[in-house]
Amino acid sequence: MRFDVITLFPAMFLAIKEEGVIARGITKSLLSINTWQLRDFSNNKHRNIDDKSYGGGAGMVMQVEPIRQCIAKIKQENPNSKVIYLSPQGQKLTQKLAAELSTLDSITLLCGRYEGVDERIIKHDVDMEVSIGDYVISGGELAAMVLIDSISRQVPGVLGNQDSLNDSFSDGLLDYPHYTRPEEIDGQKVPEVLLSGYQANIDTWRQDQALKNTQLKRQDLIQKIDQ
Ligand code: ADE
Repeated sequence: MRFDVITLFPAMFLAIKEEGVIARGITKSLLSINTWQLRDFSNNKHRNIDDKSYGGGAGMVMQVEPIRQCIAKIKQENPNSKVIYLSPQGQKLTQKLAAELSTLDSITLLCGRYEGVDERIIKHDVDMEVSIGDYVISGGELAAMVLIDSISRQVPGVLGNQDSLNDSFSDGLLDYPHYTRPEEIDGQKVPEVLLSGYQANIDTWRQDQALKNTQLKRQDLIQKIDQ
């Protein structure tokens, strides 16, 4: 999976390129993350890429031309790259959406700042808008990193011997509880069944706990399964 990220802050992406699951995926050549500094596509010596909003208002708007040129450059190498704009107005990110996107070869992520991008980019150049939740953050970069992470862990081989199929939400339920050594601490014991060695019993217990956990913490998910 190849990610191309259009941003004013490429250095933010070092956080995921250099640490953790994604960094390992890059080392294994299963993932690549290429950042593009949008200012490199500016048409003026000040490297501006934004201008005032038609109709007035305080915020600046990211202009069409630099973004369009940057996308064209990315598409020279990856004509089929799916262009996603991170925005609170987008389709809500879910485990299911991340799974669907993980089957693609190439995704371009457009990160907005200020008041966002000129609407004509969304209408003509963007394939899909994605939101990471009903709240506003200061730019698309953190949202893009959330999206990259949730997609990447579902790309075969990235998690190694772990498995994203066990992630919360993969079967519509939350995860079951996990325990590690010591067996007992301050009077709190690891559930007996996990020490029993009977895998079938452990699997049943985990299924049951996942269901209970979901009923307790996220009733709304149970209702979705029932529908
Ligand atoms: N940019 C600002 N807020 C966002 C959100 N909730 N999701 C995606 N991109 C955003």
